[in-house]
Amino acid sequence: MSSPRRETFLPFTRPCIGPEEIEEFIDSVNSGWITTGPKSARFEEELARYNGVKHCLAMNSATTAQEIMLQALELQPGDEVITTSMTWVSTLSTIVLRGGIPVLADIDPKTLNIDPARIEARITPRTKGIIPVHLTGLPAPMEEIWRIAEAHGLWVIEDAAQAMGAHYRGRKIGSDPRSVMSVYSFHPNKNMTTGEGGAIALHDDRHVDRIKRLRFHGIEKDAWKRFSKEGSPHTEVMEPGRKANFMDIQAALGLHQIKKLDGFNARRGVLFHRYLEQLKDVPGLVLPWPGDEVHGHCYHLFVLRIQPEIVGMDRDAFVQALKDENIGTGIHYRPAHIHAYYRDYYAQHPDALPPEGLPHTEWSGDRLMSLPLWPGLTEADQDDVVAAIRQIVARAS
Ligand SMILES: Cc1ncc(COP(=O)(O)O)c(C=O)c1O
Repeated sequence: MSSPRRETFLPFTRPCIGPEEIEEFIDSVNSGWITTGPKSARFEEELARYNGVKHCLAMNSATTAQEIMLQALELQPGDEVITTSMTWVSTLSTIVLRGGIPVLADIDPKTLNIDPARIEARITPRTKGIIPVHLTGLPAPMEEIWRIAEAHGLWVIEDAAQAMGAHYRGRKIGSDPRSVMSVYSFHPNKNMTTGEGGAIALHDDRHVDRIKRLRFHGIEKDAWKRFSKEGSPHTEVMEPGRKANFMDIQAALGLHQIKKLDGFNARRGVLFHRYLEQLKDVPGLVLPWPGDEVHGHCYHLFVLRIQPEIVGMDRDAFVQALKDENIGTGIHYRPAHIHAYYRDYYAQHPDALPPEGLPHTEWSGDRLMSLPLWPGLTEADQDDVVAAIRQIVARAS
């Protein structure tokens, strides 16, 4: 066997943390206040300003944020929420954890996002809302989704975990009040990171106090104020809540990451289009749609699909062949309904799957893989990826 082209392993992603983040982190540690505090409050203001939303409430992950949103919207056991299986499982699991039923609609194979033409058939008298996902950082077709939601009296929550910096019709994702709430993730893979972390974007003042309460033990006031000069040491628990607050040591990273985000995304865009250009003549690859004026991509992932009948091997063999060339990839995602828990779940809730199944989700789910993409990726790294792909395809077909 020939040796791999690269001497060192190229991961599929890597966070870009600079000296500013590290200095701010040390400042937080030295200040004596490392948990929720003034830096977290400033980060929430910066997030709201960046996204053009009235409120951004940060917490420990997008997953917890999603569950808290559903609680704040009073999702009840047996209520149905229409969403996509082409997502991270948390989109579904948070619904199930509240006793709700994730009712699935197939994707548009061009975009990997929920196909609005398939939503209406999934509505029943128990449907409460729709959760589209902006997968890969490409906005879902929100205009059609809002139209359906309005016609049927449903709320819309946007799973914008992958979409910080993406635009829809020229507006930042999360900024249109036709969606009651949206959620961003700051997991280390995302376009900006706080280590772990997430935030809810919302417009309606009425939900703010409840969500703040639900993210911190159900306590009425922000705890950190209790120990400041103006605070009172007394607490009042209004309902059982979670421990999902955001820390100042996370905000220390986020305050600088958000300033760099547009630059990060521009660089991702250059690399994304460079992949498109360099892979366009390779047989057997379905390349991602780069979006357009309406769907402003933030280039979170470059997802290609392998056609085994042309390439001569399936996706898993292709992933292994790239690994043998010292190149890492990701799979975003194995459809949620294929996972062991959800196979049983949908066997017990057959009406929550469309009668025709999810053929586009399954077709793409079997074939997709994410290539290395992050702002610090060099063009030489990218050339290695492209050369390895070309070589594997030439060898196998
Ligand atoms: C589409 C989608 N939704 C939700 C999440 C959950 O985000 P977090 O890891 O911050 O809980 C992710 C994270 O990978 C995601 O990609």
